[in-house]
Amino acid sequence: MRKPALAAAFLLLAMHAQAQLSNAYAQVLQVTSKPLLARDGADATHFRGSLVFFTYCVTCHGPNADGNGRAARLYNPRPANLRTSDKNDAYMKLIIRSGGKAVARSEFMPPWGEELTDEQIGDVVAYLQSINTARK
Ligand code: HEC
Repeated sequence: MRKPALAAAFLLLAMHAQAQLSNAYAQVLQVTSKPLLARDGADATHFRGSLVFFTYCVTCHGPNADGNGRAARLYNPRPANLRTSDKNDAYMKLIIRSGGKAVARSEFMPPWGEELTDEQIGDVVAYLQSINTARK
């Protein structure tokens, strides 16, 4: 007599626990249906791009991306002013990936294709265009 009652109680408990779980799961889904960190938003892209810029490009192009980095005076032609560049995304991606020499510009603009992923190159171009004053 006691065993079936116990089993039924457990079954009820288990069903209750499961109902609670799927309730919690539904709540989590509701919250996470929007990306938690807005990873794919423009802000996230620009933020990631700025990290690339300040890691790899700042020495030559400078913290303001105006071509006045610490090493800029070593080069002739000088690093481009990326604030006022009139180049489109495709050209920027090309010169960043393949370097200046590949597009008949100065070889002092290094090729970054081996160093940076396509996503990093896309991000840094989006960042540069977002701070570009000539294109607005
Ligand atoms: C060693 C110095 C140096 C570093 C580091 C460097 N660049 Fe350059 N970059 C140059 C020089 C010099 C030019 C100008 C080439 C010319 O005028 O022929 C240039 C030109 C460019 C241009 C062309 C802009 C235009 O309007 O024509 C872009 C875009 C660019 N660099 C992006 C980057 C990015 C992004 C990075 C980092 C991933 C980077 N550069 C790192 C030296 C550098």
